Amino acid sequence: MHPNLSFEQAPPISVPYRFFVTAPWFGVAAGLLLAWGGENALISRWAPSALAATHLLVAGFMLQAMCGALLQFVPVAAGGNVWRARQVALFVHPLLAAGAACLATAFLTAKSGFFIAAAATFATAITGYAGIVGLALQRTPGKGPTLMALRIAVTGLAITVGLGVTLATSLGTGAGLPVLEITQVHAAWGLGGWALVLLMGVSYYVVPMFQLTPPYPARLARSLPLALIAVLVLWSAQLGGTGAGWQQGVLLAGVALAGVYAVTTLVLQHRRRRKVADPTLYFFRGAMVLLVAVAVSSLWFGLDADLGGDRRAAIWIGLLAIPGVFVSAISGMLYKIVPFLNWLHLQSLGGPGQMPPNMREMISERAMMGHMWLHFSAVATLLASVIFPVLTRPGGLLFAAACAWLGVNLAGGVRAYLRFRKRMTAAATA
Ligand code: HEM
Repeated sequence: MHPNLSFEQAPPISVPYRFFVTAPWFGVAAGLLLAWGGENALISRWAPSALAATHLLVAGFMLQAMCGALLQFVPVAAGGNVWRARQVALFVHPLLAAGAACLATAFLTAKSGFFIAAAATFATAITGYAGIVGLALQRTPGKGPTLMALRIAVTGLAITVGLGVTLATSLGTGAGLPVLEITQVHAAWGLGGWALVLLMGVSYYVVPMFQLTPPYPARLARSLPLALIAVLVLWSAQLGGTGAGWQQGVLLAGVALAGVYAVTTLVLQHRRRRKVADPTLYFFRGAMVLLVAVAVSSLWFGLDADLGGDRRAAIWIGLLAIPGVFVSAISGMLYKIVPFLNWLHLQSLGGPGQMPPNMREMISERAMMGHMWLHFSAVATLLASVIFPVLTRPGGLLFAAACAWLGVNLAGGVRAYLRFRKRMTAAATA
């Protein structure tokens, strides 16, 4: 067990679980949307179905899972005291779900009311969430690269949502803002400053702990999120009208940093002390290979103007990054976190001589591996659909089925917790 975990401050198990069991169903919705749109769904990054599916994943699936995980991770691993975590979860969880549904509907129908409703809902939810979690992170006396990355990530979330709310309000009211430039900056902060930095910070902590690897080199762990933020600040200068050549260089620097993080993680996983492989390791390794693919593809598109100028280039990068890197990494993490939290909370219930069940009994390994194969098949089919659009429909269906399987597996994990809790409470009373 990690020496620095502090369980006294852990929130009730229902706090992270309400987010975890909701997240996969946004992935199902995204997959079904792509299947419904068929060949035209991903015709361009600006297609309504592409924007809606993107946000069902980033503001539905990813945001739910990441916000839920942080409410657990900040007190337990970073020593931060999240003020009234239960109330925060009760308030933020339904708002995030409603906001993601409104935003996807807004993209699909182009109705201004949905844009305004999505903007108001996200603004309320994230102001409360980032304020409270950010304060907890600020006040904790802890140190280290994970804490620094978490602080940066929560700031990145606030900036992403601030820009997203500005965009949605502008699209809803017809205010003449430079939508293209704001979108580029919003997307980079969302995928880089929020999602990637959070993934880095969490993996500095959990990869050595769960996958028994050597630790990340300390200097690299500290400098990667800082360098990424410097890149994002330079990238944001386009709001003031910098040239395309300058932007291209900044973009390449950003993806190179992502590539360094991914290669380092793969090397550490290769050097792990116990050569046992489980679904978490496979999911995480797949995510890192796909992150290397994001870096290589972006460099290639940067060097080959014809390829980089093709409208399919952005779709290719988006598919690699969102269902490929982030959904894979999150799925793998959830398969470690849920059995671990079950075990942790059951352990505190058990009386003298009563042992909590083994973590392997919480979610069947076969079901997790089945989901993993389906997930990576879906990602491969979606990537192939960039060249053969006829594959968009099967890719969407496979992706929806994979996310549904994740949802069923996680719900099974929650049911296992309730079952064991009932059994242990009965035994303690007897
Ligand atoms: C929290 C995580 C979020 C991430 C990672 C994210 C990511 C993205 C990405 C990658 C794009 C570009 C899509 C493309 O180029 O195909 C985009 C565009 C956009 N996002 Fe987000 N987003 C997030 C949240 C939000 C929120 C909360 C809102 C609104 C309340 C929002 C509103 C928009 C709008 C309006 C666009 C531009 C659409 C256009 O230009 O037509 N986003 N976002």
